[in-house]
Amino acid sequence: MALAATEVVPSARRLVQSLRDIGYDIATALADLVDNSIAASARNVWIDLHFNGGSSWIRILDDGSGMRERDLREAMRFGTQRAYRSDELGRFGLGLKSASLSQCRQLTVATRTAVGGRIRVARWDLDHIERSDRWEVLRPDLKACPPAVEPLRFRTGTAIVWEGLDRLNRYRFPDGRRAQADFDRVASDIGGHLGMTFHRFLTGETRSRRRINLHLNGKEILSWDPFSREESATVFVPVQRLRMRHGHHTHTIVVRPFVLPAESKFSTLAAHRRAAGPRFWARQQGFYFYRNDRLIQAGGWSRLRTQDEHTKLARVAIDIPSAADDAFELTVSKTQVRIPASIRGELAAIASSTCRIAEQAYRRPSVSMTDKQTAAAANRLDALSTLVRMIVRAVSDLVIHDPELPKSVQDRLLSVIGEMEARVVDQAAVQLGITDTESFAETSVGVARPI
Ligand SMILES: Nc1ncnc2c1ncn2[C@@H]1O[C@H](COP(=O)(O)OP(=O)(O)OP(=O)(O)O)[C@@H](O)[C@H]1O
Ligand SMILES: [Mg+2]
Repeated sequence: MALAATEVVPSARRLVQSLRDIGYDIATALADLVDNSIAASARNVWIDLHFNGGSSWIRILDDGSGMRERDLREAMRFGTQRAYRSDELGRFGLGLKSASLSQCRQLTVATRTAVGGRIRVARWDLDHIERSDRWEVLRPDLKACPPAVEPLRFRTGTAIVWEGLDRLNRYRFPDGRRAQADFDRVASDIGGHLGMTFHRFLTGETRSRRRINLHLNGKEILSWDPFSREESATVFVPVQRLRMRHGHHTHTIVVRPFVLPAESKFSTLAAHRRAAGPRFWARQQGFYFYRNDRLIQAGGWSRLRTQDEHTKLARVAIDIPSAADDAFELTVSKTQVRIPASIRGELAAIASSTCRIAEQAYRRPSVSMTDKQTAAAANRLDALSTLVRMIVRAVSDLVIHDPELPKSVQDRLLSVIGEMEARVVDQAAVQLGITDTESFAETSVGVARPI
């Protein structure tokens, strides 16, 4: 039997305010808008930051498909309703609004689908929402929005303009020198972040999309490859494919570990400096999660290990399919994922073997690291010994906690399991041609003994 129901409409004034703080900064907010331009098949995106004290504005202009009237109205809705293909960058129907309003008080969208066709404009204005407490989109006159409308005069595409940049310019003197300097610094951070986030799109190495160009204040944004793949001393540890079940689905996660060269092994000093990345060596080590070729999280070991100076040359690309968004708990701001428990063990093993190679490259750069087969073998052995350790631990737990088993039988079983563990790892090492198994023995947990 259907229950009686009352519709309780959320307070626009309150909700829109809390939506401003869901984890964006200016660079990640802009990345969310670039996603939209890519989805609209843009070849070029021009980002312009215009400083003019309290009247400063930021514009994101693309030469994509633009929006018809119905699309524009739906685009402005918090929670746009539409279907997504599996290779799309969008997911939540929120980015345009939540990313923009995290940085500005007034978001204007101007769009045009055909040269000579109509330019349509719509606007979210926080001051209006505050006054009216209603989800009302404004439709200003074209003449009232020159920065949004002007660039569409002779082309198709979409221009998004942010005004009232209250998060960026908090200075008591918004026209002052410090405000201007901060604005300039932010512009350079943005270039670094976008060059990294979209590096596969900028070089045209995505699976299903054309190359794009990003421009920041008239200058082309250069792609930044986190893995310095063009350096001859970079170690390409072999690709691993992890199978993961979540609900009724099985996903394949593709993992590509890299060990970058130590400083002295880089082709040039400038190349080494550039490879450090926007957050520099120590903080750029770790996992790089990609979703449909777009970088979501750059660096950090997701609490599987710490970012040690000695392992700073280790960087691991991880491609997750968008079908696994739920399993990875993708955030609305698309800045973070969480590794599902079922693959934490395997990723920890891959991280640890990559870090081992990285540590060697860092401590003894003169020893040739071009022997990629050795690196690959070490990696496989490490993954295998981790797996064996997990099984040994689970079995010994069962043995120890079985009250029915007499102590003498427990002891015998534990010692057999212990011997088997050592033998499996040794045999695998022989097959993989690794002679130095000492370092692997170090990490062995051994069999837990009952007290
Ligand atoms: N630059 C653009 N060109 C054409 N259409 C756009 C553009 N930006 C947004 N849209 C349309 O507006 C819709 C809403 O965008 P929004 O970023 O809010 O959500 P989304 O991209 O669908 O999902 P997500 O919240 O994951 O970003 C998009 O689905 C798209 O149809
Ligand atoms: Mg979007």
